[in-house]
Amino acid sequence: LGQSIHYEDAVDSTQRVAHRLAYDQSMEGTVVVAEEQTLGRGRMERKWYSPKYTGIWMSIILRPKIPLPKAPQLTLIAAVAVVQAIEELTELTPQIKWPNDILINGKKMTGILTELQAEADQINSVIIGMGINVNQKLEDFPIELREIATSLAIEQGVYFSRSAIIRSVLTHLEKLYFIYIEKGFFPIKILWESYAISIGKTIKARTLSNVIEGKALGITDDGVLRIEDHSGEIHYIYSADIELSE
Ligand code: BTN
Repeated sequence: LGQSIHYEDAVDSTQRVAHRLAYDQSMEGTVVVAEEQTLGRGRMERKWYSPKYTGIWMSIILRPKIPLPKAPQLTLIAAVAVVQAIEELTELTPQIKWPNDILINGKKMTGILTELQAEADQINSVIIGMGINVNQKLEDFPIELREIATSLAIEQGVYFSRSAIIRSVLTHLEKLYFIYIEKGFFPIKILWESYAISIGKTIKARTLSNVIEGKALGITDDGVLRIEDHSGEIHYIYSADIELSE
């Protein structure tokens, strides 16, 4: 991965640039990195705050030959890669909140947005977008984010080299991706669950249409979250915001 890197000073969104490159048949592993995004996109149509020089705003193009319903697995692979890179380069202990938030001390340090280009039910490309908060100080975050967001520099009290983190994330992602292509999702699922915070706990899952409360049982082999509600019914959650219940 990263044999072809498109480095941009400022773009609206690295996801948009990566979509265009993927559409133009760019090779698997192509990476788009920007110093700043003016319209950084988050999950569920939210904005992603992406100021200049302080974070890693990056999109990676993959072209896995997998059936469409398995695409959420790639988000989980990407989350494990970021956790491994942070563990390698810092003394911090990141945790994953399903599906793809990476938290340190309960605050969000990384968000991952996976988008697909598919035709009929064939995947053409998967675009994995990562927003990693690296060198922001607390006062660099807008007030409404200060309680919920954090950066590596805030947590460890030193600044980090963003290029070293990019290299490490890509190296780990490449290793995990090869394991996945060769052996399937199971080994990744074990790793992912070892970093996950919500499994076994009572959680609230807010989907776009409703709220489901119950115990998070784990993820399916496709990377879908399983929740058992109070009446014992099992729900399969494809996309939601998760909150730990008291
Ligand atoms: C989330 O909502 O948690 C996902 C945030 C993903 C942000 C990254 S930054 C690089 C890439 N380009 C975007 O516009 N979004 C993703």
